[in-house]
Formats: sequence, structure tokens, C-alpha cells
Amino acid sequence: MKITTLKSYEELSSTVANIVERQLKKQPLSKLALPTGSTPRGMYRELIKRELDWSHTITFNLDVYLMNVNHPESYQSYMKKNLFDRTNIYPDHCHFPFRPTSAFEDKIAGSMGIDLCILGIGSNGHIAFNEPGSSFLSRTRVMDLTEQTIVDNSRFFDDVGDVPTQAITMGLGTIMESKKIVLMANGDHKLNILNVAMNGEVTEEVPASVLQNHDSVKVFYCD
Ligand code: PGA
Repeated sequence: MKITTLKSYEELSSTVANIVERQLKKQPLSKLALPTGSTPRGMYRELIKRELDWSHTITFNLDVYLMNVNHPESYQSYMKKNLFDRTNIYPDHCHFPFRPTSAFEDKIAGSMGIDLCILGIGSNGHIAFNEPGSSFLSRTRVMDLTEQTIVDNSRFFDDVGDVPTQAITMGLGTIMESKKIVLMANGDHKLNILNVAMNGEVTEEVPASVLQNHDSVKVFYCD
């Protein structure tokens, strides 16, 4: 699969923001699947600057930690701070995975599916919180986070012991039903896993490799 390398984080952010902007302008009633983490922050900043009309848009976040949603590091707090509170999107249109997870799946299906899914990639090849070994057919479910993910994400918390150990994540099967997928990766520590996932063996040990089976995926990288 083609990996497009961009010159800077700013270019990565504006390139993916352009895709989101085009989607919202072409189809105001779009359903987006959205990521959290450090990589998409610049893209959200770009989108806010552009003052787009989000009033018809419906969002589904890819994953949430199992933790107090009011904690500043919850993904609900992240989305409010980085996007939702700074656009005209309706809070009722913003969905996060919840239990029973089948009801979250029903919500996606009831909205006729995801038009555009933006993904990051973890250093162990996870997409959303589908850790290595996740079934390619998996649906939204509770996931135990791997040691690697907990250590990677400890930079957002005071102590590694404060990192939640479980999350609810959209499944790989759920993600693969998105009409279009964009994966963004930032930093040379992601380059090896990105190459393995996009051009190596398609295996459940590398969850992002499932994207090789999708016919509309764009992959953007900057170091
Ligand atoms: P990051 O996370 O953007 O914070 O590197 C990516 C991910 O784990 O999916």
C-alpha cells in the first residue's frame, strides 16, 4: 500500500483536515469516526480554524478508556477540548462507545454507517484500541490494554499506574465497514510498524494490516 510521506506535522494535519473538510462540504450529513491521541491534535486545530458547518455531522469516536468521563484525560474530555466545544456540532450527534456495546453498534448501523474514518496507529500496530491478536471480524467490545499501550499512553498521566487498563473500542470489523479510511502517523518511531502493517503480512498480530483488505484507504506519514 502507498504511504504518502509529508514534509511536516503541519502538512500532515492540513492534508487530513482537507479530506474532512471536503467530506463535510460534499455531504453535510456525514458520519465520521474520529481518533484521539497526540497525532490528530493538529488536524483538529486546522478544522477549528476553518469554521466549518458541523450542524449536520454525526460523529462516533473510535474508543474510550473505561474511566471517569469527567477526568481531563478521558477521551470525552479530549474531544470536547480539541473539537466539539469549538464547533457548532450538536452534543447529541457526538457518540462514544458505550455498554452494551451492541447498542453502540446499532447506533452506527442505524445512522447508515460511517462515511469517513480517521485512524492513528499505535506502536504495536493497534488501530483504535484493537490490540494485537484482535479478530479481523471483531465488533465494538471491552479490551484489556497491553503493557505496551499503557506505557505509551503514560505520557498523558502523572504516573503509569494512573493509566486505565481497559477501554471500549470499535472492532476491526466495525472499522472496515467505513466507506473511506484515512490513517495518519507522526514520528519516526511509527515508521517501522507502519511499513509492516501496510506492506507486510496481513495478520491479526498486526491489527492495522487489516487495512490492506479495504479498497479506500489513504495513509499519511511525517517524521
Ligand atoms: P498517538 O496514538 O497519536 O498518541 O501516537 C496513536 C494510537 O495509539 O492510535
